[in-house]
Amino acid sequence: MKRTLGVCYYPEHWPEERWAQDAAQMVEIGLTWVRIGEFAWSRLEPAPGDLQFDWLDSAIEILGDAGLRVVLGTPTATPPRWMLDKHPDMLALDENGHPRKFGSRRHYCFSHEGYRKESRRITRLLAERYGANPHVAAWQTDNEYGCHDTVLSYSDAARNAFQDWLARRYQSPDALNRAWGNVFWSMEYDRFDQIDLPNQTVTEANHPHQLAFRRFSSDQVIALNKIQVDEIRAHSDAPILHNYMGRVTDFDHYAMGRDLDIATWDSYPIGFLSDRLEASDDHKARFLRQGDPDMQAFHHDLYRTVGKGRWWVMEQQPGPVNWAPYNPAPLPGMVRLWTWEAFAHGAEAVCYFRWRQAPFGQEQMHAGLLRTDGEPAPALDELAEIKREIEALPDVGTGKADVALILDYESCWAWEAQPQGADFNMFRLALSAYRALRQCGLSIDILPPDTTDLSAYKLVLAPGLMTIPDALRNALAAFEGTALIGPRSGSKTAELSIPIPMGPNLPGLDATVTLAESLPPGTDIPLSDGGRFVHWVERIEGEAEIVRQTESGAPALVHAGDLHYLAGWPDEDTFRAIVRDLCDGVGIQTHDLPDGLRIRDTESHRFYINYAPEQITFNGISVPPAGAVWTDLP
Ligand code: GAL
Repeated sequence: MKRTLGVCYYPEHWPEERWAQDAAQMVEIGLTWVRIGEFAWSRLEPAPGDLQFDWLDSAIEILGDAGLRVVLGTPTATPPRWMLDKHPDMLALDENGHPRKFGSRRHYCFSHEGYRKESRRITRLLAERYGANPHVAAWQTDNEYGCHDTVLSYSDAARNAFQDWLARRYQSPDALNRAWGNVFWSMEYDRFDQIDLPNQTVTEANHPHQLAFRRFSSDQVIALNKIQVDEIRAHSDAPILHNYMGRVTDFDHYAMGRDLDIATWDSYPIGFLSDRLEASDDHKARFLRQGDPDMQAFHHDLYRTVGKGRWWVMEQQPGPVNWAPYNPAPLPGMVRLWTWEAFAHGAEAVCYFRWRQAPFGQEQMHAGLLRTDGEPAPALDELAEIKREIEALPDVGTGKADVALILDYESCWAWEAQPQGADFNMFRLALSAYRALRQCGLSIDILPPDTTDLSAYKLVLAPGLMTIPDALRNALAAFEGTALIGPRSGSKTAELSIPIPMGPNLPGLDATVTLAESLPPGTDIPLSDGGRFVHWVERIEGEAEIVRQTESGAPALVHAGDLHYLAGWPDEDTFRAIVRDLCDGVGIQTHDLPDGLRIRDTESHRFYINYAPEQITFNGISVPPAGAVWTDLP
């Protein structure tokens, strides 16, 4: 597999006379890919039907002739202002029913039929014109579906489409009433057209109603994407991809991935540390200029699966961003580290956002590879080194993980519909499990919940999987390795009610969760071995053998053979200790990695990635601060 580099470029932001110079410089520094076009609708069609594609023709030609391969984006994340005159009701409405207005981006409702047609039309025009263009080597649909909280819309269009969706799913209002338990509080419906969206209710809306709305909203995103994919495929053989975001769980990425050829994602490690990670102030201070040591890798492993093995980083932070609460600059070396970490997880390409810092617009304070004045920004030096290293290091393969973590989008929605505690959610639990595995030096695959065959793995974790699909239950029954299920896994039916018999209903495991508690910050349940449960703890009945217990003697971890159920949310040290014991039991070698150091094994090499601000020497390998080194696999 070839490792390539690229950049996001906005020719429409710069004078045409500059394009050739930019293109030549991109090639000179070793870039292969240039992504363009994804926000350019107002320049492609300044007025309805007034198509101005000539400038894009030249941009593609100049970039392509220079030797670059173009990723062409559909511009549907930024409909121009005239679109709103044409379709005044196309805006999404927020939970309070307020329009999410024009003046930034992503201002459309996925359910608006008129906008779907516009999106199909502009995609078709682009595909017809550039589908056979030899320089257009890949297509990107839209931009970061779900970014800026844009999946859920409470518009009339969404309500109407939701009612149709419900009628298809439940067939009759009676069936829906039964599935949702609407006898509770006299919430029963006679007709589908009586069912509103689950916002602005007096107190919380019924949980299955919320979950249905989330399932529906996810389907709407996938449908809009599919419209674009179909149009592009009709005219082009080039691979189609989308640039997913970090920690966006509002639509089912596995489902979308089935329609696309490559998954890509946008990696902003320092921005994410500041704006979407629950962590102590000490942790945030320590990793201020590097990002969290597990956040990027988690998404690399996730999107490798979403992309069915093919994935890229489409936007890599190269310097300070503009959008997080605080925006420090990376430590020297971090751009190289992030790039090599992605390659170590199997990325085919890493592209940087953006080529040159913009002097105007909302992202003026966002660094690029070039400064606003066109001079090199600090990241450019690191690129030279990366280029040399790519040339020197042979293909290392992706490597085979012994450990799998199951991540389920529907469970993320179920947790949001029914959090039961204020400050935690499914993603946070999944990341804490992932962190525990990584602190033990393990390489991990992230799998969808409908996985039917686990035989490639020795250890499988399925934390927080509210509903365990039958296929997975069967796969667990047949699994010969060790599995750790829970907390909260198997606690609900697919309609978010409590199953009878009560969960987790795991094959051969006599354990029933009879009560669950959520815990506020600063409180915990001590375990007898010194560990602790935080956020969440369950009471268990049954004869399953106890592996760990609370100080007061209640079961904390139980098992039947290799199937384990965890009855609480372990804190960081406890999770690591549990994972280490399980690995010992199944013959997986673990490491006790120093804070900030991570390992990733490929087919031929072991990568040591040091997120810490100090040099770390581990097992005789010395890794500089913010450094990445590799050796042959031991
Ligand atoms: C991404 C987005 C880009 C740009 C970037 C800034 O989320 O896709 O268009 O806004 O953030 O960091």
